[in-house]
Amino acid sequence: MTAATPLIIRATEPRDLASLVECLNAVFTERRFLAFTAALPVAEATAYHAANIAAGHPHCVALDGDRVVGLCDVVPAAPPRAEAQRHCATLGMLLAPDYRGRGIGEQLIRAALAACVGRWQRVQLSVYSHNERAVRLYRKVGFVEEGRRIGAWQLDGETSDIIDMVYFTHAS
Ligand SMILES: CC(C)(COP(=O)(O)OP(=O)(O)OC[C@H]1O[C@@H](n2cnc3c(N)ncnc32)[C@H](O)[C@@H]1OP(=O)(O)O)[C@@H](O)C(=O)NCCC(=O)NCCS
Repeated sequence: MTAATPLIIRATEPRDLASLVECLNAVFTERRFLAFTAALPVAEATAYHAANIAAGHPHCVALDGDRVVGLCDVVPAAPPRAEAQRHCATLGMLLAPDYRGRGIGEQLIRAALAACVGRWQRVQLSVYSHNERAVRLYRKVGFVEEGRRIGAWQLDGETSDIIDMVYFTHAS
């Protein structure tokens, strides 16, 4: 990122998808922060995000020029026929490695959460206990811990807890 190309946070558009999938797969292959630990087939990942954008679900990107360097998306937590959970959504987010630790995540998540107000009451997420930067960010913007699955993350000889967190849109 240079002074000549200020970072932009905006709603994701279909033209962002190729770069978005590259960013997503780069973080999957880090094997530290997300459930998937290998790159997804490009067509599958592209179709998933294209469908969420077309459905009007909150979906924001951070752009450095034309390059997607971060994303935050929110989808219903259960299929529409699960009537009792229609007030619940699930949030996911990530930044490319070089763009972390600069406050960009906070801008992205605040933009996505603003789009959830009036749409869902509960915005849920899960985060690994070793991901201290993410936990700190989530608490800062108003998420609270509501459960902890002890030792539920195990990979490459390491073990962590999975922390379940929730943000109540009507409390904001
Ligand atoms: C998690 C993530 C989205 C956070 O976004 P970010 O822009 O890097 O975070 P910020 O710069 O806003 O920092 C968030 C907080 O963590 C703190 N922090 C920064 N680096 C840290 C570190 N290495 N360890 C602990 N806390 C750290 C910051 O100081 C800030 O707290 P503060 O505002 O109280 O000072 C981003 O780091 C990321 O994409 N990580 C990899 C993918 C991922 O973890 N996705 C989420 C899965 S649940």
